[in-house]
Amino acid sequence: MAGKRLILMGPPGGGKGTQAKRLQDRYGIVQLSTGDMLRAAVKAGTPVGLKAKAVMDAGQLVSDDIMINLISERIDQKDCANGFILDGFPRTLAQAEALDKLLKDKGIKLDKVIEVAVPDERLIERITGRFTCGTCGEGYHDKFKQPKRPGVCDVCGGTSFTRRADDKAETVVARLKAYHDQTSPLMPYYKAKGTLEVIDGDRDMDVVSRDLERVLGT
Ligand code: AP5
Repeated sequence: MAGKRLILMGPPGGGKGTQAKRLQDRYGIVQLSTGDMLRAAVKAGTPVGLKAKAVMDAGQLVSDDIMINLISERIDQKDCANGFILDGFPRTLAQAEALDKLLKDKGIKLDKVIEVAVPDERLIERITGRFTCGTCGEGYHDKFKQPKRPGVCDVCGGTSFTRRADDKAETVVARLKAYHDQTSPLMPYYKAKGTLEVIDGDRDMDVVSRDLERVLGT
């Protein structure tokens, strides 16, 4: 698995982040979540963060130029040499084409694109129930993944938790629309290249992880 370059695709709340973190912990290939990068930029008040905040809060997509620069610079960092998992990028055809070009220029080959498919009706419950440890960032869910001791993070013992500003039900509808309009067309794009694998993400998290490992041949 070391050295693999993967893209995890799928709808908002489909489990990309959950599965990417598991792959990172298990195989030491770094998770590159563009959503996390943007949230860090918003928190730090950087120029990118200032531009992205309102767009993200409305459930729309941040401009292709910003995203392509962000990912191009990130892939050059040392920790990506052992492989990476793109989580949330590319999200438009322009981003996918720019990614092809920048990987070619950097002499990097993409191994697989994996779509974690989940029907829309499951996603609102998944997203609105999500919360995160404010100290270490471990992800939880009101129904599907509660801390073992209520109010205490399993990983770091932290007791403060946060919910994302864009995880309100009304914003989720806009995020789903953006996904269907702008990101779904990438599936035929990667299918035509022969790199796309689709797995059923509408199952228990551990079952999805095992299926992912099967697809990756590990
Ligand atoms: P981003 O942060 O990428 O959000 P997203 O794609 O909407 O995906 P999520 O993080 O909501 O979901 P996920 O698939 O990671 O699911 P998770 O594992 O957390 O992007 C946010 C915003 O940033 C975008 O709207 C956009 O504005 C901007 N942006 C980012 N990238 C961009 C780009 N490239 N171009 C333009 N704009 C960009 O799971 C969700 C919940 O379900 C969790 O609580 C989890 O515990 C639970 N769960 C997971 N798997 C299961 C399961 N199998 N069964 C039951 N529950 C499960």
